[in-house]
Amino acid sequence: MVFHKKATRNEVYIVAKIIDGKAISAQIKEEVKQQVARLKAKGKEVTLAVIQVGNDPASSVYVGNKKKACEYVGIRSLSYELPEETTQEKLLSLIDELNGREDVDGILVQLPLPAWISEEGVLERISPSKDVDGFHPQNVGALCVGKPGLVPCTPAGIIELLKRSGIEIAGKECVVVGRSNIVGKPMALLLLGENGTVTIAHSRTKDLKRVTSRADILVVAVGKRKLITREYVKEGAVVIDVGIHRTSGSKKLCGDVDYESVEPVCSAITPVPGGVGPMTIAMLMHNCVESAGKGFN
Ligand code: GUN
Repeated sequence: MVFHKKATRNEVYIVAKIIDGKAISAQIKEEVKQQVARLKAKGKEVTLAVIQVGNDPASSVYVGNKKKACEYVGIRSLSYELPEETTQEKLLSLIDELNGREDVDGILVQLPLPAWISEEGVLERISPSKDVDGFHPQNVGALCVGKPGLVPCTPAGIIELLKRSGIEIAGKECVVVGRSNIVGKPMALLLLGENGTVTIAHSRTKDLKRVTSRADILVVAVGKRKLITREYVKEGAVVIDVGIHRTSGSKKLCGDVDYESVEPVCSAITPVPGGVGPMTIAMLMHNCVESAGKGFN
């Protein structure tokens, strides 16, 4: 059973069974907006460079949303739309140029990249201090050993969802389903950093139901629609759904969790859409301020 902590005078929690990512991300964006304004008053304009290679429609939507969020919170965004046939050399030289620019605080290269470009090579070229995605091995290492660094946006957003919903992590059985570098692994490290007891399950896990059924906090990031039904969930668990899928033949979205089946047995759950999704961009904005704020606070 998960016990939700009561809000003290200085903490504003949004306590509800359905965790409202839209409301919590709006709260974070308002905080970021104020921080951006404070930096501006000190003469620092927060700037994010966004690079997209090619014109994958999904990537274009994500990049468009990131630029809109920048505009909303007052961050200047520089947009680099490179043609599909861009070489790795060209992309790396743009990153080098942006690394060297004092007026650029964050660099984001939208993934996926064309097949002939090494994702690893590109992500490692971004200066760790401007790596607002938190994907550079130096930031991953910092997260692993509990040192300050830039943290991947989706798992950082999930920690905010839990904390701002008054959900305690310390001492809880946390199960993360999925071991990607973008979500699963950093999620497990962040939960561990909050003193959770953490298990990572993945495609080779034997008897997944047995593993997920012991979770007080279950985070699902596997990219398989409605994989998690009520048989996988302990009564009273908190369920966080990172998946997003278009229901075939309709415009409706669904997650990795079968919401209708799981909602009646859990104590809190993120909906799709409107749960984890909006948090990623809010935390990207937060990371831009983190990066820009160094030396200005
Ligand atoms: N493509 C899908 N998700 C992400 C993300 O979080 N960051 C970047 N750079 N590309 C992505």
